[in-house]
Amino acid sequence: MGRMKTRLAVLGSGSGSNCQSIFNAIDDGRLDAEVVIVLSDNPEAFILKRAAQRGVPTGILDCHGFKNKFPEEEQSALAERLKEMQVDLICLAGFMRLVKQPLLDVFPRRILNIHPALLPKFPGVEAWKQALEAGAEQTGCTVHYVDAGMDTGEIIMQAYVPVLAGDTPETLHARIQVQEHILYPAAIQSALSRL
Ligand code: GAR
Repeated sequence: MGRMKTRLAVLGSGSGSNCQSIFNAIDDGRLDAEVVIVLSDNPEAFILKRAAQRGVPTGILDCHGFKNKFPEEEQSALAERLKEMQVDLICLAGFMRLVKQPLLDVFPRRILNIHPALLPKFPGVEAWKQALEAGAEQTGCTVHYVDAGMDTGEIIMQAYVPVLAGDTPETLHARIQVQEHILYPAAIQSALSRL
């Protein structure tokens, strides 16, 4: 019997194009893993449809009507559930809530995030817009381990994206996303080879 593949859980709040890039990398053999569950705090998020289309189990994270908060008791319940499922790595893919202690304690150095800027520059929301407003000549994307701060954990890999004359927030974000879709699977593969 072969070794069990690395088991990933993906958490996202939106379109899930990064989750799709993980699926694609698995299918191409660039990522030696399987996605065992996709979870969202937003029942309408397209990421859930992408998962369902692939036959990957999905779930909704109940955030008790809070706009940004991820209630601690939900994080504890999630940690328990993912542990029971023998999840090896949690990949945040456009997940717009802060992960805190209960999850961090159960999955130390086992939670990754992709951020649309060259951290430590432009943490937080709409990082591509922040780069544009700051007049940056280049920005990019970063995959990092998640710690208790906002977008502060140890960096695994980064990719550069130039800011072009005439860029709008939409055109810049679209070019960053092209790089994200290459970077995230590569960084996950690198992290899982060091588990
Ligand atoms: C991505 O650009 C990701 O880097 C960003 O949200 C987008 C999600 O797109 N994440 C953050 O801003 C986290 N602070 P997707 O749903 O198509 O993967």
